Parts: sequence; C-alpha cells; structure tokens
Amino acid sequence: MRGPHHPPCTRAHQAGALLLVGVTFLLTRLLSVPPPFPTARHASTAPWPWRGLTSHDDDHLRIYVYADDEIDGLRALLRGRDATVSPATCLKGQWGTQVKIHQLLLKSRFRTLDKDEAHLFFVPSYVKCVRMTGALTDKEINQTYVKVLSQMPYFRRSGGRDHIFVFPSGAGAHLFRSWATFLNRSIILTPEGDRTDKRGISAFNTWKDIIIPGNVDDSMVKPDARAVQPIPLTKRKYLANFLGRAQGKAGRLKLVELAKQYPDKLESPELKLSGPDKLGRIDYFKHLRNAKFCLAPRGESSWTLRFYESFFVECVPVILSDEVELPFQNMIDYTEISIKWPSSKISPELFEYLESIPEERIEEMIARGREVRCLWVYAPDLEPCSAMAAILWELQRKVRRFHQSAQTFWLHNRSTVNRDLVEFHQWTTTVPLP
Ligand SMILES: *[C@@H]1O[C@H](CO)[C@@H](O)[C@H](O)[C@H]1NC(C)=O
Ligand SMILES: *[C@@H]1O[C@H](CO)[C@@H](O)[C@H](O)[C@H]1NC(C)=O
Ligand SMILES: *[C@@H]1O[C@H](CO)[C@@H](O)[C@H](O)[C@H]1NC(C)=O
Repeated sequence: MRGPHHPPCTRAHQAGALLLVGVTFLLTRLLSVPPPFPTARHASTAPWPWRGLTSHDDDHLRIYVYADDEIDGLRALLRGRDATVSPATCLKGQWGTQVKIHQLLLKSRFRTLDKDEAHLFFVPSYVKCVRMTGALTDKEINQTYVKVLSQMPYFRRSGGRDHIFVFPSGAGAHLFRSWATFLNRSIILTPEGDRTDKRGISAFNTWKDIIIPGNVDDSMVKPDARAVQPIPLTKRKYLANFLGRAQGKAGRLKLVELAKQYPDKLESPELKLSGPDKLGRIDYFKHLRNAKFCLAPRGESSWTLRFYESFFVECVPVILSDEVELPFQNMIDYTEISIKWPSSKISPELFEYLESIPEERIEEMIARGREVRCLWVYAPDLEPCSAMAAILWELQRKVRRFHQSAQTFWLHNRSTVNRDLVEFHQWTTTVPLP
C-alpha cells in the first residue's frame, strides 16, 4: 500500500483501510470498554475483526471439539496410557495453554456439536504434560497420534487443513515425531515460531499456524487481585534484570557475567529453581518488578515466558532472542511496548543504551503495555479482550468454505467421494493417511 507506486484506489485499498480502522478501533476502545457488538444482521457489514464473530449472525465461526471418548487413543493423549494424569496438573505452568484453550473452546459460543456444519475442528491433547510425567513415551505419542488421526474421516477429507492442534512448548509440533508427514497442513497453535537450535527445521509456518502467548501464572493476571503489584519507576533498584537459569546458553551466560561486573545495574542472581532455597512464585515476581527493563534472552528455544510476565509487573521487556516470533502481529505493534536488541550485542553497550532512554518514554511504553496485556490472558471469549478472543479472530480468517485434499474428489451432484468413489459419509475408519 505504501510502496513507491501509487495505483488507483482499489477494493484491496478499501479493505486495507477498513482493516486499519478496525485495528485502531480495537486497540483504542475495545481493550478497556466492553465491545459494542455489531447488531447488523449480515456478518459482512460488521467491522473487522468482529466480522463473522458475532453470536447472532447466522454465519459465525463454528468449531467442533473432538471428545476424548469419541476416538480411540485420544484419551491417552490427554491423560496418559493409564489415564493417570489429571487435567489440573497440566493446567499449571507456562504450558497450561494446552488445557486452557481446550477448556475455553468447550465453553465457547463458537463451538458446534455438528461436524457437518463445522468450519474448523479442534483436536485436544495435553502431550507436553503427559510426556513430562512419563505417562507416554515419545514413541507412544507418535503412534497414538497416527492412530487417532486415522479414525477421523473429516481430517482425511481436508488432509488436515481445517484441524487445529495446540503444541504449548518450545518443541512445538516436534512433540509428535512424525508431524511433518501427518500434520504438515494443519493449523498449529504454539508459542514457538522457531526451532533453529536442535532439529534444524521449524515446525512453524507463518501463513497457516498461529503464535499464542505463554501461560502467565493465574495469580498475576487477575486485574483486581494481582498477587504482586508494580512499583513506581523511581523506586526500582535496578536498571535491568534477568531472572532465570543460564542453561548453558551463550546469551544468558553473558548476562550472568555482566551482572557480576555491573551489580548495581543488572540483577541476575543464580536462581534455585528446586530444593529448599527455591525462589517462590511471589518472590520471583517481586524481584521482576524491581527493574525498569526485564531482559528476555533466548533459552532452550526462542520464545520465553518472561516476555509476557513483564507486562504484569510493568517493566519494559527487552527481547534478546533474534529468532523470536510474537503473537497477534495483526493487532499489536511491538515497537510500542518492547525493545528487541541483537543478541550479538549483549555487552556494556546494552546498559549504556538502556540508560539513555528518557523516563517519559519508559512510562509511555509501560502505559501502552498495560492496554495490550489483556491479550496475554486466557479468559472466555466473551471477555472484550483476551488471548482467546484474539486466537479466534485469527482462526476465523483461516476458514475455508470448501474442504479438499489430494485424496478427495467430487461429482456432478456435489457428492464428495474418495478414490474408490465412496461417498464421504460412507467412509469407514480407519481411513488411510499419508
Ligand atoms: C510414527 O508412527 C507411525 C505409525 O506407527 C510410523 O509409521 C512412523 O514411522 C513413526 N515415526 C517415528 C519417527 O517413529
Ligand atoms: C507433507 O506430507 C506429505 C505426505 O507425506 C508430503 O508429500 C509433503 O511433502 C509434506 N509437505 C511438507 C511441506 O512437508
Ligand atoms: C451422486 O452421484 C453418484 C454417481 O452417479 C451416485 O453414486 C451418488 O449416489 C450420488 N449422490 C447423491 C447424494 O445423490
């Protein structure tokens, strides 16, 4: 739109303008005030991003959520081979999104119980948690996924294009070893847009997958009952902090070293994350709020929960993770709320730079962050602003009216058939997969 050429105003321009209006509208008003849901009967007249998302429209987004007793094996992906893992266990910690998104979709006004009218299909699984507790091995996870998918004719119909999966950790879809064969067309929700350190290939695709925020501790996100309150900028003891384990990562080791050199500027204690001296959750947030800038260096993978947490203690996050991919880029301009600094320049130069930033600018960034942070909170989609609402807006834009794959065919009378000309509703499981 703002290229060197200035073609005449086209439909695309108008749509672009509408989109901009929509974004401004959203960020200036909807974040703090309950949204004036469009009353228009036709979804197409509603302003973006509400188009198609109103519960009164005939044409709103419809998502089918698979039930664990519907498909043999799905229960194991949720609770382990002997069904010993409780959802409550999996709800805690930075990977709690695998449970929260599932539970919120079950209650969502966009849920449908009818597969034939669904636009999208959600396949629940808590494998990150189930794997950590040893309730399924990597090999079992892989085999169970394949078994589950082969019982889903609707997955087969679209080659998985309209099916949604959550992978809540840095490993992303790699948790399912053969993801590249079976899930390479599906919509993947993950906080991790990159996996350059270990496996060489990224399981994330910008144009089909969705980056989601990590799960910030419940005690910090409730607006009127936050366990740790921010303190005024002038009362903060440090310029910056990094609270986490070095994990042998170059950038983090450098920070620990710099903290020894500049103990009055950078707080980076050696944290005990287990044992009797373990830093408690509340203490952790009390440390975090004591600096103007919270450094968020790359760890095992490029995303880091610290980035999201910083908004709730109101320090400005400084991303030191070159490959990071951030959520909801259709709505948020990250230059307004954060800083991204080259990880090759983790040096005294970083402190000089941070010290040169005027207080007013810091206050401005913090104030903007305060408006945006509701998008990191996993709350029901009826809330005017939440991670769930933002995920649904993105999902809604991925809806296809038509479902097809290399293994589907259609006839003169609109029947969808397989290679053997068997009509879709007669397809028996197990359906063949790639
Ligand atoms: C995953 O499971 C499928 C089906 O059992 C198998 O064909 C495939 O080789 C497995 N992948 C890996 C990496 O083990
Ligand atoms: C997806 O899987 C199919 C079937 O194995 C394969 O032919 C195709 O190359 C894969 N695509 C990508 C992008 O990996
Ligand atoms: C559509 O046409 C095919 C081929 O003639 C036929 O076998 C099938 O029963 C038809 N389906 C419907 C829904 O009429």
